[in-house]
Amino acid sequence: MARWSSRFGFLLATVGAAVGLGNIWRFSAVVGTNGGGAYLLPYLFAVFVLAVPLLVLELAVGRTLRTDVVSAFRAVGERYAVLGIAVVAGVVLVVSYYLVLTGWVLAFLLGALAGVERSFTALTAGWEPIVTFLVVTVLSGATVSLGVSDGIERLAKLVMPTVFLILLGLAVYVVTLPGWFPAVSFLFTPEFDVLADPRLWSAAFGQAFFSLSVGMGIMLTYGSYLDEGTDLLRSSVIVAAADVAVALVSGVVIFPIVFSYGFEPTLGTELAFVTLPAAFAAMPFGRVVAVAFFGLLFFAALTSVVSMVEVAVATLTSATSWDRPRATAVLTAGLCVLGLPSALSYSPVDLALGGRPVLDIVDESVGTFGLPISAVLIVAVFAWRWGETAPRRELGALWPLVRYVTPLVLLTATAMKAVGLARPAWRLLLDHARNGSSSALVGGLFGGAGLLPLLAVLLIGGAVTSVLGVVLWSRGILTTKRRQREGQ
Ligand code: PHE
Repeated sequence: MARWSSRFGFLLATVGAAVGLGNIWRFSAVVGTNGGGAYLLPYLFAVFVLAVPLLVLELAVGRTLRTDVVSAFRAVGERYAVLGIAVVAGVVLVVSYYLVLTGWVLAFLLGALAGVERSFTALTAGWEPIVTFLVVTVLSGATVSLGVSDGIERLAKLVMPTVFLILLGLAVYVVTLPGWFPAVSFLFTPEFDVLADPRLWSAAFGQAFFSLSVGMGIMLTYGSYLDEGTDLLRSSVIVAAADVAVALVSGVVIFPIVFSYGFEPTLGTELAFVTLPAAFAAMPFGRVVAVAFFGLLFFAALTSVVSMVEVAVATLTSATSWDRPRATAVLTAGLCVLGLPSALSYSPVDLALGGRPVLDIVDESVGTFGLPISAVLIVAVFAWRWGETAPRRELGALWPLVRYVTPLVLLTATAMKAVGLARPAWRLLLDHARNGSSSALVGGLFGGAGLLPLLAVLLIGGAVTSVLGVVLWSRGILTTKRRQREGQ
């Protein structure tokens, strides 16, 4: 059975899974569009009160059952196996487009290294993003293939300290910029009157769960490689604190740059791919800063991709007789195919369904609705149906939070998004890239019903779940293990 080689290694790998594009790019976009400091209060509340208990739950389930997501669901009841498959399907779909975004980051990094300046539109007009998407997919597959401690943990040990160092270096550099002071006051001045706006809370909750990577079985899988002695609550608080710290410092880096070069902080997700490259082009040592920034973003994203790939590989190896390298190879090939429609939707092919780029459809449906639904499934099965007391012991007085408060808040926030009261932040970049106007961007922020994406998630999720279910079933996961147990 695979294990982390040390607690520190586990912490770095888990922080690596949590810290990703979400902290650096999405966080700044969400803060900017939600009026700066006002947003921090609900965000911190959501991270520490709602998401941390779920993180502890997932780690405790993983460590107690020492198995992959689908087998863990099946351990509670044979009939829950299909819910486990749905959770894994959600992760597979999220990683299929997260790989495309990471490919864009790699393309910008290579561009900065080579000294080529390109706009987002110019970049996606060529084939390079498709190539970088494939490169990232193979790279993450290769890492996972090496194993838990030799691949995932080693990557995190190599890359996460680099991420922290680059971030600190950039944070020191931006103090020299004229926009530093206004930016920092924008970021940290709480405006209490906007706290009455439920959309702010909904945005903060979505961001907190996304940013910590909870609710998708990732932490369950990482918990299954953890030793008995580790304190789960303490580890979860450390991971959450690191995650929040990276997000805040990224804000402290990004906003001074935005303010100093006369850009709007409220432009949303286009910050990373449109605003910042423009600012880098204008600033002294801009190329160095661009390499540092996109390098940071790339490393952070890669460790998150790897965590998602691991969820699927762990499930595949336990479902089949395949060893890790073979399961990873099959999955990597599958992801190259599954991610292709998203990769092709911002390319010369302009792949779209009903006028919407496929990447948008997958993001709106799975990215926005898949995660909360998957989190609720985990709570429903492991906090309600599971007789085991391990999570309750780990959480102590915080147990009611994960049993009642977190699922209630998730359901409410998801329902609000479904009726179109709130919109995800990734969308803004994509809307902007299409319409080329920032008013459309802001107008797009809260407009439009979300019922269609919800329907889409049920359809896409259902389709992928069925395919995965048939594959796993035909490989024996749903039958062999049952026979094994009956034979005992
Ligand atoms: N937490 C990662 C980030 O911040 C993204 C992620 C979300 C990964 C959900 C897996 C599941 O970028």
